[in-house]
Order: sequence, then structure tokens, then C-alpha cells
Amino acid sequence: MFTLRPATQADQKAIKDLIREVGINPMGLDWRRFVVAEDEAGQFIGCGQVKPHRDGTHELASIAVKKGWRRQGVARAIIERLQAKHGRPLWLTCVNHLIPFYEPFGFVEVTDLDQMTAYYRRAKRFMKLVQLLSRQRYYLAVMVWAVGNED
Ligand SMILES: CC(C)(COP(=O)(O)OP(=O)(O)OC[C@H]1O[C@@H](n2cnc3c(N)ncnc32)[C@H](O)[C@@H]1OP(=O)(O)O)[C@@H](O)C(=O)NCCC(=O)NCCS
Repeated sequence: MFTLRPATQADQKAIKDLIREVGINPMGLDWRRFVVAEDEAGQFIGCGQVKPHRDGTHELASIAVKKGWRRQGVARAIIERLQAKHGRPLWLTCVNHLIPFYEPFGFVEVTDLDQMTAYYRRAKRFMKLVQLLSRQRYYLAVMVWAVGNED
């Protein structure tokens, strides 16, 4: 069993450590925006946040769960809590193999640069360059849980 709660300042280190451990974007990890999951003993086991950007968009970000707690619905609970709190539209970026993970939550991949806001256009262009230079087969996907995508 696990529970969710808004983060406190005391969670800042655990958030940073987990994000570093899983190797996702380490920028903008202000605990005030985070929801954290904890086990029955009150130990931190996962987190997620919604980050505001200057272009007015909101990004579902920093979704991470400790290894021993994966595939038990922790990320699902965090994502659904953040969706309920912030509503649409929410954007995100992820490696392409995680597209099927986000689709059941209503996120749809956006491939047309003209449909992206400035922040995601820049991120996509930058990652395309990194991909070309490093010859990686994966790519950075931009997804949106948009107004009008309701099913
Ligand atoms: C991706 C991650 C957050 C998933 O956390 P989790 O707690 O194991 O996910 P959940 O148990 O809530 O899974 C929710 C659903 O997604 C599925 N799922 C979980 N991981 C998946 C993956 N890597 N690919 C596809 N589907 C996945 C689960 O099977 C589950 O489906 P179900 O409800 O039909 O059974 C976790 O593996 C992680 O921390 N990875 C490293 C950090 C990372 O990559 N974060 C995403 C940044 S964009």
C-alpha cells in the first residue's frame, strides 16, 4: 500500500536524488509543485509535478518511481492526481518508448512543430540535433493531453 501527499521541503533531497538516479531532466525540481508517494512506513517511493513554462504551457514532469515499487500503480496514481488538480491542457516530453505508457491517460503525440508552443519546438529541435549527433535510435516525443481530445 502507498499514499500520495503534497511534497514538503523535507522531500527536496529525495526528489532530487530519485530524478538523478533515473536520469531524467534535473532542472526545475522545486518541491512546492510536487506530489509524492510514500509507503506505509512513510518512506518516499515516487514523485511527479506540473511545471509552468514562460510560454503559458504546463508540463507534466519528473514522474519517477523507485525500482522496488514499479508496476504497482504508483505512477498512475501520481499522474491521475496531477491531471485532476491541473486539468487540460498538459504537455509532456518523453523518450518514444514511453508513448504507450502515457496514451492511456489521454496524452496524444504531437509531431507537427506548428502545433507546438515555443518551448516544445525548441526542445524538439534541440533533441533532434542531439539524436543526429549521437546516432541514437530513440527520439524525444512531445505529447499533449489537450482540450478537445476528450474520449
Ligand atoms: C515510467 C515509470 C514512472 C512507471 O512507473 P510505475 O509506477 O511502474 O507505473 P504504473 O505501475 O503506475 O503503471 C501504469 C500503467 O503503465 C504500464 N507501464 C508501466 N511502465 C511502463 C513502461 N515502461 N512502458 C509501457 N507501459 C508501462 C503499467 O503496466 C500500467 O498499466 P496497467 O494499469 O494496464 O497495468 C517508472 O518505470 C520510472 O520511474 N521510470 C524511470 C523514470 C522515467 O522514465 N520517468 C518518465 C519520464 S518521461
